[in-house]
Amino acid sequence: MTKIKIGQVGLGRLGQVHASNIVNHVKNAELYAVASVVDAELAYAKDQLGVQHCYKSYNEMIGNDELDAVVIVSPSGFHAVQITQALEKGLHVFSEKPIGLELEHIKQVVTEIDKHPDKVFQLGFMRRFDESYLYAKEAVDNGDLGKITAMRCYGIDPSAGLDSFIQFAKNSASGGIFLDMSIHDIDLVRWFTGSEFKSVYSLGNNIAAPELSDCEELETGACLSELEDGTIAYFLAGRNAQHGYHVETEIIGTEGMIRIGNAPEKNLVTLYDKNGVVRPTSGHFPERFKFAFVNELNTFVNSIQNKEQSTITGVDGLKSTEVAIAMQESFESKQIIKL
Ligand code: NAI
Repeated sequence: MTKIKIGQVGLGRLGQVHASNIVNHVKNAELYAVASVVDAELAYAKDQLGVQHCYKSYNEMIGNDELDAVVIVSPSGFHAVQITQALEKGLHVFSEKPIGLELEHIKQVVTEIDKHPDKVFQLGFMRRFDESYLYAKEAVDNGDLGKITAMRCYGIDPSAGLDSFIQFAKNSASGGIFLDMSIHDIDLVRWFTGSEFKSVYSLGNNIAAPELSDCEELETGACLSELEDGTIAYFLAGRNAQHGYHVETEIIGTEGMIRIGNAPEKNLVTLYDKNGVVRPTSGHFPERFKFAFVNELNTFVNSIQNKEQSTITGVDGLKSTEVAIAMQESFESKQIIKL
């Protein structure tokens, strides 16, 4: 089978992870082209990854008729336009979350995706490809927990990245902590329960990083929500975990409960020394979700080759964004928001 030729836009924090995965771990694809506004990133792609077609502009890259697909890892504000342009060019699309920052734009993108049923569109909710989450999903779908009554979701970035986030937030819109971070947990709650959100109430603070108030960002955001089937879901997103990258999910059912990532363990090692009994922790998202990032791109490429539709659709992107925006609105208005 011929390899799928991918053009990738964005070679930043996550872009370099995806690019290196395509080159080294996705055997049915070729990283044919890249686009970035940063010369050093293009030099990295050419010299380290052997990419032959390096562009400073996305439009020029998708003008290359050899491409089959794009992988979009640019800042969130560009996604909606870049997805639309790629579909119009007849390309398959993998896009990082979120689809966009404005609901109106996302709805237009979903309409555009629907107009191209022969093209694969997959959104980057990589946790659905993580071994532990897949194991838990199977248990839930088998009925091992009975009916789900509540979920608790923590997503806290390491303090080691806080300064660089503050710089990022000064220059670029993340969409706010709920859209930037809680969106993964919102997707997980929809995925595990199969239900939609009914109401949300959020709180937030910048006790750990007062500078973030200047750019209208939050260091800690929390939300209590109710789903249409009655499930209660509690979310906490933060940017100041001193011990590493803390992603934890708890699912409570009538017949049992599951915890994923109870402590963000790096591996199976336990260290016994003068500090006591220490479990090393994972330091950042590329480490914790290393295999999930590889699995999601292999799934995308296999879907193209097998002419199958992806299971993470534009509607998943739209629904999760609607909830994240409602969470932000609730924080700002201090009101319960009904969806
Ligand atoms: P970044 O700021 O580190 O990198 C952005 C990249 O886009 C840079 O290579 C920059 O040169 C390029 N770029 C910016 N404007 C451009 C333009 N007009 N044309 C072409 N290239 C352009 O950003 P980061 O952290 O890598 O995030 C990128 C996306 O990935 C965001 O949408 C973010 O939400 C998502 N993300 C998803 C994660 C996940 O867990 N699935 C984790 C981290 C980020």
